[in-house]
Amino acid sequence: MPKITLEPITEENFNAIIKMSDTLDDYQKKCVAPNVISLAQAYVNYDRAWPRAICLDQKPIGFVMLALHDDDIPDQDQPAYYLWRFMMTREYQHQGFGRQVLDLLVEKCQEEGVKTFYTSCEMEKDEPYRFYMNYGFEDTHKMDDGEEILRMVIPKKG
Ligand SMILES: CC(C)(COP(=O)(O)OP(=O)(O)OC[C@H]1O[C@@H](n2cnc3c(N)ncnc32)[C@H](O)[C@@H]1OP(=O)(O)O)[C@@H](O)C(=O)NCCC(=O)NCCS
Repeated sequence: MPKITLEPITEENFNAIIKMSDTLDDYQKKCVAPNVISLAQAYVNYDRAWPRAICLDQKPIGFVMLALHDDDIPDQDQPAYYLWRFMMTREYQHQGFGRQVLDLLVEKCQEEGVKTFYTSCEMEKDEPYRFYMNYGFEDTHKMDDGEEILRMVIPKKG
């Protein structure tokens, strides 16, 4: 299986990252903010936003952004990372790349001593809830801003 990497946002990949939001269908656009908005949020949350291009052989095929800190996450789950934004260009979806990205993010959590990984998602359709649950997230049955909050305790490495 081809390997994906997570690369910093640069002047070179910036346009590709912004344009790929247009490839999503209407429901998927409800699930994730436009990447241009996410990058603007990253600018004003510079100390805690971790935006990355998802690349396949250097070609950007998706976008992911973590919040490296979130005050709303309960103390007992800290330190925690929050999967703030995550999208794959339409033509690269359902090929296993999203799962590979989650693997890389879990590895990052392990390397950085993070205890819990959080995300939240739309519940109007089966996806992306099913994708996250299949990966190993659990449903907290709490909501934030109309989205279901999901959490995963980071497994110990090895
Ligand atoms: C959610 C999202 C990021 C997942 O990325 P992805 O690359 O499509 O994810 P994967 O391909 O790894 O897995 C999706 C499903 O594809 C299927 N799949 C994986 N490899 C496949 C293959 N070779 N052929 C066919 N299907 C495959 C799997 O069944 C997987 O389902 P699973 O949950 O049962 O494992 C992507 O679908 C997306 O961008 N969605 C729109 C935006 C969105 O909802 N973002 C999340 C915001 S909370």
